[in-house]
Amino acid sequence: MEKNTRMGTNRTGVDMAPMLSKEMARGARELTPAQQADPTAYDSMVQEHVREAGPLGTVPVPGTVRGALKSLLDKATGHNPEVFINKLGERLAYERSGVRFYEAAIRKFEALRDTEAAGFPIDELRHIRNDEEAHFMMLKEVIAGMGADPTAQTPDADVAGVAGMGIGKVLHDPRTSMAQCLEMLLMLELADNDEWQMLITLAEDMGMDEAARFGDALQEEEEHLATVRRLYKDSLIAQASKGAVRH
Ligand SMILES: [Fe+2]
Repeated sequence: MEKNTRMGTNRTGVDMAPMLSKEMARGARELTPAQQADPTAYDSMVQEHVREAGPLGTVPVPGTVRGALKSLLDKATGHNPEVFINKLGERLAYERSGVRFYEAAIRKFEALRDTEAAGFPIDELRHIRNDEEAHFMMLKEVIAGMGADPTAQTPDADVAGVAGMGIGKVLHDPRTSMAQCLEMLLMLELADNDEWQMLITLAEDMGMDEAARFGDALQEEEEHLATVRRLYKDSLIAQASKGAVRH
């Protein structure tokens, strides 16, 4: 089944029923208690929750301080190593999610091979998936080498997991097209690139030796971004082309 963008019976817009749309607008006007409502009440309530809420989580204290973290603490001059552990945990979570997201996309593209994905370089996505896994393993090694626990979910890892939920939903929806999935992968890689850069900046600022290893990962991430951007663009251009095969 072709999933590319095409004209069809879409009933979501008001143009589908102009008479009913007038009725709907009237109903919305009548049922909106705009005059009586205090617009600041909602803001105050939400802000009260923000002030009262605790943090999203905490960074676990390493069971044994060793390796890079030990040397950092030895020369600790106004640095908080938990900030680094928090971000390392986030990258670990992100790369692991990345593997799953790429696997979801590959599975879908294989299913669409006869239609949309004809001639699609699925191997390029497999290559990226393997890089993400290698980054995950490298981060696991770095975190464990510091004496921290790579299985612990840090607060920013939690945030990355929640933020990725929308991406996962789009990729796993059986109805979404290649272009729609590639757009998700592009979002993923854009953030991935910036976050690796951020981790390197942080590592350098804290005098951590890991910055060099992270530089290699960033270089691979830059390649991922260029690849996904090209595949997404090609997919959209192919759909927009009048000669595109319709099924
Ligand atoms: Fe990547």
